[in-house]
Amino acid sequence: SLNGYEHYMLKEIHEQPDSLRNAMRGRLNDEDATAVFGGLNLTPQQLRGVERIILTGCGTSWHSALVGEYMIEEFARIPVCVEYASELRYRNPPIENNTLVFGITQSGETADTLAALNETKRKGHRTLALCNVVGSSIAQAADGGVYLHAGPEIGVASTKAYSSQCCVLAMLSLYFGRMRHMSFESGGRIIEELRRLPAAVEQALTCDSEVRRIAAKYADASNFLYLGRRYNFPTALEGALKLKEISYIHAEGYPAAEMKHGPIALVDEHTPSVFIMPRGTTYDKVMSNMEEVKARGGPVIAVASHEEAQIRRIADEVIMIPEVPEFLQPIVSAIPLQLLSYHIAVLRGCDVDKPRNLAKSVTVE
Ligand code: F6R
Repeated sequence: SLNGYEHYMLKEIHEQPDSLRNAMRGRLNDEDATAVFGGLNLTPQQLRGVERIILTGCGTSWHSALVGEYMIEEFARIPVCVEYASELRYRNPPIENNTLVFGITQSGETADTLAALNETKRKGHRTLALCNVVGSSIAQAADGGVYLHAGPEIGVASTKAYSSQCCVLAMLSLYFGRMRHMSFESGGRIIEELRRLPAAVEQALTCDSEVRRIAAKYADASNFLYLGRRYNFPTALEGALKLKEISYIHAEGYPAAEMKHGPIALVDEHTPSVFIMPRGTTYDKVMSNMEEVKARGGPVIAVASHEEAQIRRIADEVIMIPEVPEFLQPIVSAIPLQLLSYHIAVLRGCDVDKPRNLAKSVTVE
């Protein structure tokens, strides 16, 4: 039921502190400073021998794969490649021995993701599913996997499944990291940071009324740009996809530094740019990208973690989110973007839970 919310999408956005708690329940082990998973069906020796990981999926699940790539490479130092399932299934790429293939999927029924997993499995690679729907086709086809436990996601636009995918990928990175070089102390720190995540998401959700005000100001735009770097680059893609699919506004996500290589030509006074820029490694660089857009007359919306005169001076709007470590920023910074697309879609009279031309699970290729 809607529980008093006007749409499932809004309800599911607000469920995220709980769905994240459920994703982590029973999976954080303080004694060994690692994560534990019941259903990987691989021995520690088999997992220790993994030399490459392929993450595959479609749409929003492909975006969480991009987040996972940054996490696994940072914490476990295992090379990762991210593949669109629809491409992986037909491209016939050479895949080395000791490659582990993860299919990431909310529904567990996406035809391309299922086919990509079956194709890699047929070639003798180990496959795992990172999936929300228990007993779904992909959960059954894989050698093992991890459930998201996000609860049913009814809105066609994926929200809580996305944050849970990112969260499970963070725990997997911790797990693989602790099997390799990561110290007990670093593992313990990551566990603490994960435990603080649901409260940070709760705090991020309080931006709702501010985001609604901003939505009203920009709801008539025909084009949006979303820009971020490192962990916030996938967030830019995800923010743009959310806006496209439920409000039918054209939007593009880019790594902020790519602006100069073409997209900045799109900037004019009618094209808002959303900068996802919580403080971190590339903060100053993104600030100058934002200044360049502003200098060309584009309206700027900044998603930031620190009150700063410089941001307030450049950006037309600032949405504040709590400070979290960089690897958790994708989860927290997705919240205002989910809300922005939701409020814009409602203001434009769109059917947010059932957008035109889309289905919740894409069971044909
Ligand atoms: C976006 C969205 C789609 C799905 C994609 C994959 O909000 O819902 O892009 O993410 O169709 O679906 P799953 O995760 O069920 O495989």
